[in-house]
Amino acid sequence: MILVDIFRARRARLLASLTAQGGGVAVIPTAPERERNRGTNFPYRADSQFFYLCGFREPEAVLVLIAGDSPRQFLFCRAKNEEQEAWTGCRYGPEAAAGHFGFDSAWPIDELDRKLPELLINQPALWTSLAFEPEWDRRILAAIKTVRASIRSGDTAPGTVHEISVALDEMRLTKDETEIAAMRRAGDISAAAHCRAMRATCPDRFEYEIEAELIHAFRAAGSQSLAYPPIVASGPNACVLHYTDNDRRMLDGELLLIDAGCELDGYASDITRTFPVNGRFSGSQRDLYQLVLAASHTARAQVRPGNGWNAPHEAAVAMLTQGFVDLGLLKGEVQELIKTQAYRRFYMHRTGHWLGMDVHDTSCYKTDGQWRPFVPGMTLTIEPGCYVRPADDVPEAFWNIGIRIEDNVLVTPDGCEILTENVPREIDAIENLMRDENL
Ligand code: GLY
Ligand code: MN
Ligand code: MN
Repeated sequence: MILVDIFRARRARLLASLTAQGGGVAVIPTAPERERNRGTNFPYRADSQFFYLCGFREPEAVLVLIAGDSPRQFLFCRAKNEEQEAWTGCRYGPEAAAGHFGFDSAWPIDELDRKLPELLINQPALWTSLAFEPEWDRRILAAIKTVRASIRSGDTAPGTVHEISVALDEMRLTKDETEIAAMRRAGDISAAAHCRAMRATCPDRFEYEIEAELIHAFRAAGSQSLAYPPIVASGPNACVLHYTDNDRRMLDGELLLIDAGCELDGYASDITRTFPVNGRFSGSQRDLYQLVLAASHTARAQVRPGNGWNAPHEAAVAMLTQGFVDLGLLKGEVQELIKTQAYRRFYMHRTGHWLGMDVHDTSCYKTDGQWRPFVPGMTLTIEPGCYVRPADDVPEAFWNIGIRIEDNVLVTPDGCEILTENVPREIDAIENLMRDENL
């Protein structure tokens, strides 16, 4: 199957679902371009749900799908413009885009505001995304208002507005073979980058030197961008969950926590490894690392069809809390420490999230108030951790140790597959990899 057929099939599935829910018109814009500072933009990335439905990467584009007995699919995109294309590169233009991306018709984006009211007239419902981009909210509401202005001639405006991402998140939650292939490859590229980072790490280098190794490996392997800003956090920085300065000199005897992943063909990977700057774990580092590693194994074992979303987190929390007591970080009875969430002093985030086009993918964690059960094709992270800041009531040997181990996981019919297996996680394997490099 060629790619355009995959995108067309997704649009057909969405249209069938909208028709079953009473029909109407879906209007889905891509992401706006964003200025970084005067005359310079942030690198452009299409909106995930728009891209999921059509694979079109240009900015200034809107997708229109009309549900019902004779469904239709339209695209608005930038018109051809030789002068502009000399500056910013080739554009498909509506005619070529319609053919290439499998639309019934396409029009220049400059005609959107004039045509939108025509497309909304007499439709029972509008399906779009609201409260994400204020400019889009303004534009789509203006179109509804224009339709309402003509109701005395017998036309009607959509009586209902639905959030389209509810249906789209549901579709995106389980990945098809094309998506899984992209995620496997993204996982492989990121795993290789983490191995490169481990080999490059030694005392007195700077965190940004290791960040540069990661970015080199991502790009050299063909990934188009980072999935999120890399965290390269040595020593105490590892206890800052969203640390991204990456500008500290790494010292002998410390750990380095790296959370970094590439984006490939629109799909994210999201790996964390923690390892000693000098290649050998100290006693207290080893103790805490083994605990987080055991939590990772136990959480992963809970990822199988039928288990609910929260099962890996609950398993990780139980294992970590018991370990915190055994190591003297917490005092008290384990069940009570779990119930009162006392463990959150050292483990304050959840054990994972859905992963896909967005690193924090979709919002489908519960249905009807229950944690959603795993089904084959879902992809998620498993990322237990432990972060110990200095405090009088905490053994000094553990101060400033921050550890996270994060892998990407695909739910399979009988359990799960780790998509990020190709970077070591066991202590011996990490030490061997770093020792071989330093021979
Ligand atoms: N790197 C973002 C996360 O782990 O959720
Ligand atoms: Mn993550
Ligand atoms: Mn991460």
